Amino acid sequence: MFKKLFLRKPLKDATPDDDGEGRHSLKRHLGWVQLIVIGIGAIIGAGIFVITGTAAAQYAGPAIVLSFVVASVICILAGLCYAELAALIPIAGGSYSYAYIALGELPAWIIGWSVTGQYIFSASTVAAGWSGYLKSFLKDFSIHLPEWLSSPPFVHTTSHGWSWSGAVIDLPAVLLVAFIGIMIAIGIKAAAHFNSVMVVIKLCTVALFIIIGVAHIKFANWSPFIPENTGHFGEFGISGIFRAAGLVFFAYIGFDTVSTLAQDAKSPQRDLPRGILGSLLICTIAYIVVAAILTGLVSYQLLNVPDPIAVGLDAIGGYKWLGSIVKVAILAGLASVVLVQLLGQTRIFLAIGNDRLLPRPFSTMHPKTRTPIVGSIITALATMVLSGLFPVEILGQLVSMLTLLIYGIVCLGVWILRSTHAEYKRPFKVPLVPFIPALGILSCFGQMLFLPANTWVQLVLWMVVGLAIYFLYGYRHSKVRHHR
Ligand code: ALA
Repeated sequence: MFKKLFLRKPLKDATPDDDGEGRHSLKRHLGWVQLIVIGIGAIIGAGIFVITGTAAAQYAGPAIVLSFVVASVICILAGLCYAELAALIPIAGGSYSYAYIALGELPAWIIGWSVTGQYIFSASTVAAGWSGYLKSFLKDFSIHLPEWLSSPPFVHTTSHGWSWSGAVIDLPAVLLVAFIGIMIAIGIKAAAHFNSVMVVIKLCTVALFIIIGVAHIKFANWSPFIPENTGHFGEFGISGIFRAAGLVFFAYIGFDTVSTLAQDAKSPQRDLPRGILGSLLICTIAYIVVAAILTGLVSYQLLNVPDPIAVGLDAIGGYKWLGSIVKVAILAGLASVVLVQLLGQTRIFLAIGNDRLLPRPFSTMHPKTRTPIVGSIITALATMVLSGLFPVEILGQLVSMLTLLIYGIVCLGVWILRSTHAEYKRPFKVPLVPFIPALGILSCFGQMLFLPANTWVQLVLWMVVGLAIYFLYGYRHSKVRHHR
């Protein structure tokens, strides 16, 4: 039995055109520019627009710039490994498919289940954040949404545990996900167009902020650049930089989504590495510049707010009108993050369904739209329920943990495949193997150790549910094992 659990899928079974049944494969619409745009769509979101402020104010001060550098190093290491595997194994399913070939069935299921958690929980987190921003935007025009219809009914505090807030549902979050779910079910082209518009809006906002901000930096705000530690681990000083890096890591999540779209790409072996690394590099540069400008415009102590970018612009004076534009851009930006994550999840379900680790309908394409319609509906419904009922803080906790686990295993996959299958032709190669993958594994698993204990409990619970599904269904129906 032990051996069966680690049975690997042969690489020849994973050709780019494999749709499991040879029918209704996905339409190939995406070139490398569109893949970069989709990557940026998934990456730039709540992380830079919201978390930068909180992390600077509470943990790092102006040295938040260094926190972004630290987080980007982990992501670039993982990004290089994703690029090698995406070009080598250009099939839908990203890290799930890589793990099936490099490590075997059970690790693949664990990764597929982790990615499912990552996408559904982070899409829910961002949708709930979107609802919060919408309320704040409408308030600027004296429009007040009723609380009972626009906030989550379940709330959680460390001191009191779970309680009922009196609200019924966070309807704006639910409606956003429903709208995006319909678009994804209709087709990748509509979704990609919508996403491109959203990405242009958010990139313009970031550019505008940089152009206006750079001329108004007050160097005094950068001094001291690394505020003195308060005496508590993680509150400023060097430890604060690393604590904040753990938080802003969320800002980089998303480049991996490009790898799930292999079957939508026109030329996956050439374009996937470009999409993954291109979007990651553009966002890394943008983040570091934005963080430096923001902390130069205003004292970091004033940034513990949900809309730090607007606070930075307010500090310049004369740009009040920009505040509302920034909020619209943030709404657009967050919507595109939700879109790309839901899209990525449908492709994960597609790959898992093709392998029969989940029931057949997960991988059945609708003959007209040529999209995996059942997987799209299930993904959207799960996200609607979570974002409608639970608060942002709770939804977001598990996301970084799952992401670090996945990135670490992808790095491991590169290393293993290099030693077991050195002969495979690799269109993109990670330099300095095994040094780079080993550093990726160490930094991902090392960063996991710094996450709070309750996140570890959530991880264990999520895995227990996943393993139950695998042994009740996947183990018995697996195509790889039953077709030998
Ligand atoms: N990177 C995405 C964001 O910051 C998840 O919203």
